[in-house]
Amino acid sequence: MRVVKTVDEVRAQVKEWRAQGLTVGLVPTMGYLHEGHASLIDASHRDNDRTVVSDFVNPMQFGPAEDLESYPRDIDRDAKLVEEHGGDLIFNPEPSEMYHEGFSSFVDMTVLTQELCGLSRPVHFRGVCTVVSKLFNIVKPDRAYFGKKDAQQLAVIRHMADDLNMDIEIIGCPIVREADGLAKSSRNTYLNEAERKAALVLSKAVFLGMDMVRNGESDCSAVIGEIKKLIEAEPLARIDYVKIVDCATMQQITSLDRPALCAMAVYIGKTRLIDNFFTEDV
Ligand code: PAF
Repeated sequence: MRVVKTVDEVRAQVKEWRAQGLTVGLVPTMGYLHEGHASLIDASHRDNDRTVVSDFVNPMQFGPAEDLESYPRDIDRDAKLVEEHGGDLIFNPEPSEMYHEGFSSFVDMTVLTQELCGLSRPVHFRGVCTVVSKLFNIVKPDRAYFGKKDAQQLAVIRHMADDLNMDIEIIGCPIVREADGLAKSSRNTYLNEAERKAALVLSKAVFLGMDMVRNGESDCSAVIGEIKKLIEAEPLARIDYVKIVDCATMQQITSLDRPALCAMAVYIGKTRLIDNFFTEDV
């Protein structure tokens, strides 16, 4: 397993693999890897001959008041995890390698980004689409793997790949949770002891919503109302949004008469966490 810093090194390695007729999977990450990322690497290792993991905290997808500086980084720890899970190459570029002076081309999307995290984080998806397009162009993988915890991101990337005729299979992998239910996230490391306990309110809200849907509730406002009531009872929690949207359009709906996503973003202290469930999966 190698860690490389430049686009040229990635291209040379992938070219060598291609010459041997090998398939390549890509797992894009911002590093500080956890079991959620490990499940993506496992899936890629299972489906492809070789797996590239990108490990890059992408400045373009952070707003000015967000956590770019404090985002956790530890490449040695990441390298160990990638190796243990069968990854073959880590691409860990400096921002200047990805965005050279004069960089001025962007990939943006006018649909799917108008709701949920797109509303709260206006520059976020332009940054995600741009960096993921660049990674696709650098690695040219057969398949790319993304977690369903970032459900809107997965929908946006699928749509982008389709719109721009990117010949890459986009694979969504299930949310991985801690034993007590909290969805794995690199941002969980920001939580102090009291906040870590309070953060459980997100998964409790997800399980409550799933139960309601499973028991036949089809009125979105009823599901959202109960979820909000639960979260608001936690003093350290502040809701950014709790919404139910159509899976295909990411637009809000009022009735569960089609495949839907119930997504939430909640501040626990200063840390913004997300969680969700798909109504078809319950
Ligand atoms: O999900 C993430 O970690 C990031 O948004 C991604 C896809 C690696 C792009 O920077």
